Amino acid sequence: MTSGLERARQKMADAGATDAAIDVFTHYLGQLDAGGGGFIREDDIEPLTDPPRLAAVDIDPDRARDALARTALIKLNGGLGTSMGLEGPKTLLPVRGRKTFLDILVSQVLHARERYDARLPLLFMNSFRTREATLDHLDVYDELAVGDLPIDFLQGFEPKLTLDGYEPVEWPADPTLEWCPPGHGDIYTALVGTGILDQLLHEGFQYVSIANGDNLGAGPNAELAGWFAQSGAPYAAEVCPRTPNDRKGGHLAVRKSDGQLILRDTAQCAPEEMHFFTDEDRHPYFHANNLWIDLGALRRLMSERHNVLGLPLIRNIKTVDPSDPSSTPVVQMETAMGAAIEVFPGAQAIAVERDRFLPVKTTNELMLVRSDAFALDGDARLVATTERLPGISLDKRFYGLLPDFDARVEYVPSLREARSLTVEGDWTFAEPVTVLGDAFLPDEGQPRTVEDEVIGKP
Ligand code: UTP
Repeated sequence: MTSGLERARQKMADAGATDAAIDVFTHYLGQLDAGGGGFIREDDIEPLTDPPRLAAVDIDPDRARDALARTALIKLNGGLGTSMGLEGPKTLLPVRGRKTFLDILVSQVLHARERYDARLPLLFMNSFRTREATLDHLDVYDELAVGDLPIDFLQGFEPKLTLDGYEPVEWPADPTLEWCPPGHGDIYTALVGTGILDQLLHEGFQYVSIANGDNLGAGPNAELAGWFAQSGAPYAAEVCPRTPNDRKGGHLAVRKSDGQLILRDTAQCAPEEMHFFTDEDRHPYFHANNLWIDLGALRRLMSERHNVLGLPLIRNIKTVDPSDPSSTPVVQMETAMGAAIEVFPGAQAIAVERDRFLPVKTTNELMLVRSDAFALDGDARLVATTERLPGISLDKRFYGLLPDFDARVEYVPSLREARSLTVEGDWTFAEPVTVLGDAFLPDEGQPRTVEDEVIGKP
């Protein structure tokens, strides 16, 4: 064990961390010390090539409705969207007009409650960095809470560690930066530690459908709930068919030694085996991070494992101040929620359509979901208005961070009839523009404004 362990444990206890969170932290620090965070070798796995397809399974509508009535929804909302340079919850960004991700998520749930006459609680998993702003925004939705259930719960926090010696880092300039959320794999610890798991069971809920807060495609779905109930599985992960563009992100595979489904993320693939990882013919489905979990099965597993699921460790190297690359380098120990598939014997995968996966990780994707290539339907679902979504590639130097993007994209171009939009250099969209076919704006070495009403070649 590191010399830093005792100091880190004490620091967590002083900051009010639960015993369970401190135990989990201790477990992962042990793994980090032992050089954990190893690779999953191609030789040790079989690709997942033929999962059941939702479109091909027969689900009785009454059973589906009944399953949805016993389902709760959780949205992951603890991350900060650092890839877009955000410092608050990504779900507070406006997506359609002034409606934010949060407004749309709430609207989806309220519509589904009415349509299926289901209670459908919606809970956000927040971190200490996202809670206040999220709850402030949700304050107007009086009807959101179900019974005695809260509308959010708080995930844990852990100290960032120095690279040498794994000591808790000190950053007097802003002590809040000494802490980080431990990744979305922390949801299992948080569900138990906050008492939400028992409360959901007590209120008669049997299933939970979990997805990223920025994925507006993963709304309440009765068919999936029906399929999950019918499968009897303790845990299921939604996967989507991969296209040549989906080279990143994790995939599921079958572990040869025991036939168990496992998740392999980018960080778990050895560099010399990346060509297997990115081969969409060899691993034809990607993991959408939309999960279905049987709450009773989770309760039993957490008790058996004394609240430590023991997921593979992700060793994340960052700087203590994410906005200052010259600040002290730190290790953040994280786990991924979807890695839990390997600890649930009998876990399954279900192939769903691409519309269940609409992530917004970059401003390219933000431009797309804000554009007319999508529309909100009567159930507040974000649906594509075009058969093939255009590929967007904006110059990272001028559009990568949200404030830069917002300053340059005063009007989101019309993308419904676009195949691709590539912008190089510093262009401002100050008037409505329609993109037809493929459009390319070259770097002209100085700031420019798009002046044509129509750009691109059909
Ligand atoms: P990611 O870490 O994959 O992405 O989290 P992100 O939030 O888009 O962040 P950056 O840009 O990589 O920093 C996927 C989902 O999990 C949540 C996030 O809020 C997002 O909805 N999350 C992540 C948590 O709830 N807790 C965490 O500790 C980490």
